[in-house]
Amino acid sequence: MTVFLMRPFVLLPSAHCRALCGQPRLRRLPGSGPAAAGSVPCPGFPEPREEAPFVCSATIAFLCLFLLRGGGGAAGPRAGLGASARGGCRCCVPQFPCPEGGPWAPAPSWAGRGRPQCGSCPGGSPGSATPATGVPQAAGTAQPPAMEATASLLDAAAVGDLVMLDPLSEEALLRTLQERFSREEIYTYIGEVVISVNPYKPLPIYTPEKVEEYHDCNFFAVKPHIYAIADDAYCSLRDRDQDQCILITGESGAGKTEASKLVMSYVAAVSSKGEEVDKVKEQLLQSNPVLEAFGNAKTIRNDNSSRFGKYMDVEFDFKGDPLGGVISNYLLEKSRIVHHVKGERNFHIFYQLLAGGSAQLLQKLKLRPDCSHYGYLNREKSVLPGMDDAANFRAMQDAMAIIGFTPAEVTALLEVTAVVLKLGNVELSSCFQASGMEASSIAEPQELQEISQLVGLDPSTLEQALCSRTVKVRDESVLTALSVSQGYYCRDALAKNIYSRLFDWLVDRINTSIRVKPGEQRKVMGVLDIYGFEIFQDNGFEQFIINYCNEKLQQIFILMTLKEEQEEYVREGIQWTPVEFFDNSIICDLIENSKVGILAMLDEECLRPGTVNEDTFITKLNQIFASHKHYESKETLNAKHVTDISLPLRCFRIHHYAGKVTYNVTGFIEKNNDLLFRDLSQAMWAAQHTLLRSLFPEGDPQRPSLKLPPTTGSQFKASVATLMKNLYTKNPNYIRCIKPNDTKTAMLFTPDLVLAQVRYLGLMENVRVRRAGYAFRQLYQPFLKRYKMLSSRTWPHWMGNDREGTEVLLAELQFPPEELAYGHTKIFIRSPQTLFDLEKRRQQRVAELATLIQATFRGWRCRKQYQQMRKSQILISAWFRGHAQRNRYKQMKRSVLLLQAYARGWKTRRMYRRYFRSNARMRLSNFIYRRMVSSDGISASPPPRGCAQGPGPPFVPPAQVQKYLIGLRNNLPPMAVLDRTWPPAPYKFLSDANQELKGIFYLWKCKKYREQLSPQQRAVLQAKLCASELFKDKKALYAHSLQQPFRGEYLGLTQNRKYQKLQAVAKDKLVMAEAVQKVNRANGKKVPRLLLLTTEHLVLADPKAAQPKLVLSLSDIRGASVSRFSDGLLALHLKETSAAGGKGDLLLVSPHLIELVTRLHQTLMDATAQALPLSIVDQYAGPRAWPTWAFPEGAWAGGGVATAQGVSGRAGWNRAAHWAG
Ligand SMILES: Nc1ncnc2c1ncn2[C@@H]1O[C@H](COP(=O)(O)OP(=O)(O)OP(=O)(O)O)[C@@H](O)[C@H]1O
Ligand SMILES: [Mg+2]
Repeated sequence: MTVFLMRPFVLLPSAHCRALCGQPRLRRLPGSGPAAAGSVPCPGFPEPREEAPFVCSATIAFLCLFLLRGGGGAAGPRAGLGASARGGCRCCVPQFPCPEGGPWAPAPSWAGRGRPQCGSCPGGSPGSATPATGVPQAAGTAQPPAMEATASLLDAAAVGDLVMLDPLSEEALLRTLQERFSREEIYTYIGEVVISVNPYKPLPIYTPEKVEEYHDCNFFAVKPHIYAIADDAYCSLRDRDQDQCILITGESGAGKTEASKLVMSYVAAVSSKGEEVDKVKEQLLQSNPVLEAFGNAKTIRNDNSSRFGKYMDVEFDFKGDPLGGVISNYLLEKSRIVHHVKGERNFHIFYQLLAGGSAQLLQKLKLRPDCSHYGYLNREKSVLPGMDDAANFRAMQDAMAIIGFTPAEVTALLEVTAVVLKLGNVELSSCFQASGMEASSIAEPQELQEISQLVGLDPSTLEQALCSRTVKVRDESVLTALSVSQGYYCRDALAKNIYSRLFDWLVDRINTSIRVKPGEQRKVMGVLDIYGFEIFQDNGFEQFIINYCNEKLQQIFILMTLKEEQEEYVREGIQWTPVEFFDNSIICDLIENSKVGILAMLDEECLRPGTVNEDTFITKLNQIFASHKHYESKETLNAKHVTDISLPLRCFRIHHYAGKVTYNVTGFIEKNNDLLFRDLSQAMWAAQHTLLRSLFPEGDPQRPSLKLPPTTGSQFKASVATLMKNLYTKNPNYIRCIKPNDTKTAMLFTPDLVLAQVRYLGLMENVRVRRAGYAFRQLYQPFLKRYKMLSSRTWPHWMGNDREGTEVLLAELQFPPEELAYGHTKIFIRSPQTLFDLEKRRQQRVAELATLIQATFRGWRCRKQYQQMRKSQILISAWFRGHAQRNRYKQMKRSVLLLQAYARGWKTRRMYRRYFRSNARMRLSNFIYRRMVSSDGISASPPPRGCAQGPGPPFVPPAQVQKYLIGLRNNLPPMAVLDRTWPPAPYKFLSDANQELKGIFYLWKCKKYREQLSPQQRAVLQAKLCASELFKDKKALYAHSLQQPFRGEYLGLTQNRKYQKLQAVAKDKLVMAEAVQKVNRANGKKVPRLLLLTTEHLVLADPKAAQPKLVLSLSDIRGASVSRFSDGLLALHLKETSAAGGKGDLLLVSPHLIELVTRLHQTLMDATAQALPLSIVDQYAGPRAWPTWAFPEGAWAGGGVATAQGVSGRAGWNRAAHWAG
């Protein structure tokens, strides 16, 4: 049949730049997480300013996101790049235009004709078409920039993308796969379809570094890898809001389950981190070990074969963070519970439980850790090399805990599992009823009792349910006994039902944990891992169902990748040469046709009254499909006179897309009916075990349902139809798994086996369609919306219709015309390189626009900030200026006042000089006259002639004043300072002036007196003045001292040779020298002494020897005390710390006491700048160790004899000494 197709291509908004320089270049959407560590900007790719997408606010980020997503993510059908994306300049890098900047050369479609070539690269010439093979010659001629992936893709011996295969033939394709496989490159592309060849050995290509390498990568810029398709799907989902599904197909053991786990783990690794997100991811990932334990088994083809179909919808939020998921399971191969062929195993869980369960657990479950004990395990020890059941059991338990199973739930689950296992050991024996009818009974009650104990059931109830059956005859219920074989059938049916329902419960329970709360907007990525196509020696109902499912998956692949797209070209009016491929609709129809399909026939046989068995069923099939191309049986072959001994009776053969499979109809009706006697479900419902009971709701006698349950076939057909419907709504991504050998040998490639798979997977057709087709197509409207910013005519708005807009846009971009085709509603772009170019330009433009938005925003923000700063600055400067000006003003005012004061002073002084110094007499009189006149308020000058006297002071004729002053001059009092006489004022109005003049005259007289004094007289006067300040009105002796001149030197030191030594002591520093008497502190006796006061010392000397007896430093004198009376007694208080002070104060009697104390005071002032602390007191408190003294008045005057009178006999401390008053 001829069909047309083109697979839609994926286009990622983020781009890498392995194309130009081999460096990953992660350009990220704002907020899409940190860039890959170690990524460096590509030198060959103009980088928009680095901070651009990050710095801006949330608004900017949103706007950028909006732009990058092509205006809100409504980009229409998936825009993408196929394997043919590796078009580009043949002589340089495939993904991008020539790095030399070579112009686009019009070239025929590269589908068999070659791709465009630029004229700038060596070996390339503009306009030259590539050879018809379409194989890139770059590998041998011009070297493109280093790029590992490109090299891999262009490697002629093992091209990474089969679209580049040359020549395109089955042999070449097989050779390529084999060559790549031998290099351990197990992944190969056909466009975006990933072909995975099972290596059967672990390869180091799933490391975190690899995840990083493929994260946000450009699908075609990296080596083929399953991570690339996972990343592609994830990015399309995250950035384009397109729900994705990943369809993993291939036969049993081809690596589907492993592939699905790799996809899931990749998505988990690249989506963002966080406590909540990590928990969800972990739960999603941990569902695998649990489901594999219960749903996988060892088969001849695969040690870990999935015996159920699994479709998992992983749901993401708008950021691409996983929120949760839903798992759908399809038809568990439950017959395996009761039967499996030699060399295979039952479901893993039984072996895991027996091997890994603790002794305590097994005891609780009443199990023995020995597989050979159990009938359903074929009573054989089944150890699988390379599979550690015990470890897997622990992993499963951990996984359950992570998913959220409670310990009670786990226990219940294992209990029911144990019940299934133990049911296989329930043995029946035959007996006969009274009526002679054969009946059955439990041969060994032990197992039955243990089962009953495990689930809380009465053993007799279970026994009755297993050995008899209630039959309704009209309205009566009759209990009929079952034969042994019927009993075993019941037992097995019960075991199968319990297990398959338990498996459904398990999936439901996992779903409860991982299900997303309703209401959240989600994007979905579905991962389909369903049992692979199976051809066994003996194929039964299960294989029929499994192969039907695979047939449907092949159909979806054909529909979406081959047929639909080719049809679209026709619909859109695009010129197209149809590509032949096999359409398996006919096989699907053979099986599922609702009227005359095999499943419909089977249902009919199951429901039909009368004798029904497999023979009637196959006869019917033979009649209906006698001439069907894809159906064969012994009968139909005989009719065509064909002998085929490989096709026995009771068998039919279907020519599947993947090969011919002969099915034995034995068991078809029973398995399709899948009936469980009501007695059994009622018995299960009667159990106290909550979980087991919940698995059999129909056993509730209160809710009897007479409706027959749907048959297995119809159920499966319906669920497959739902699955297909679901898949059609999503963007498909294909991983086609190939099994390289039948022996599970590592790295062994069996060409025949692979060739068969290549054929039935339709890989050749796939390649042909891709090579012939257009890489990209999209409705005009979303296309224009996405790329309109590339032309100034379409940006920001295009007013015409979308097609015209698209034409204008692409015309402006000057792509070669053969690269584009305009359909009725869609634009078609031939080579992916054109699309890459378009996308690259768009990204650059978006970056520019983002920069513009940023610039505008930053400008706005800066302006705002500037304005605010300016306002603040003006405010601050206004305040500051005000403050500064106020300060300046204050300073200026101070200065002005000062200047004013100086100026006034200066002026006054000048006036003074002018009036008092020159012509002083005259001027003084004038001055005084004026002052007098003005101070008395008398006008100095008469009013102008003719003017009446106005208000103001009366006019006084100056003659009287003149007369007064002349009189005063002639009568001035004598100049003696003590003379205070002054003539009276002749007129009353002059009395104040006269008084003032008197004061002035007196001061002047004093001044004159002072001026004529010699320095010595001045010093004496100063000493006298000091004496008056110290003693006036304080000491009676002061009055006597007034008349005595202060001579200072009373000893005649210079004249008397005897005092020569003392003179040397005094040198030039002598202040006073006199003869004094020193009072003995012990007895009051006086001894004569010579006292010398110098500027530094006070010296007491012996008058006879004229030798200093005591030299006191002035600083040792603490103070002095004298009495109020006219005595000459002086107490000098010495510092206790001084040498002389230790003995106590010094008592002296001086004939010139007033002068001595005054000079001592002055000398101290000069030496220490401190006054002498002088006490003039009535009482004197002497220092310690002094006796108390009383002195009658005058006893010491003039050097009289002192009398010591002790007040108390003992020397007393601190007692007052009284100066005799
Ligand atoms: N990428 C791989 N790398 C290494 N070994 C692999 C890979 N894929 C599969 N295998 C090996 O192949 C075995 C079978 O793979 P898997 O169980 O995925 O097959 P399947 O297609 O799911 O089969 P079935 O349809 O029976 O479930 C795995 O147990 C593993 O040993
Ligand atoms: Mg599998």
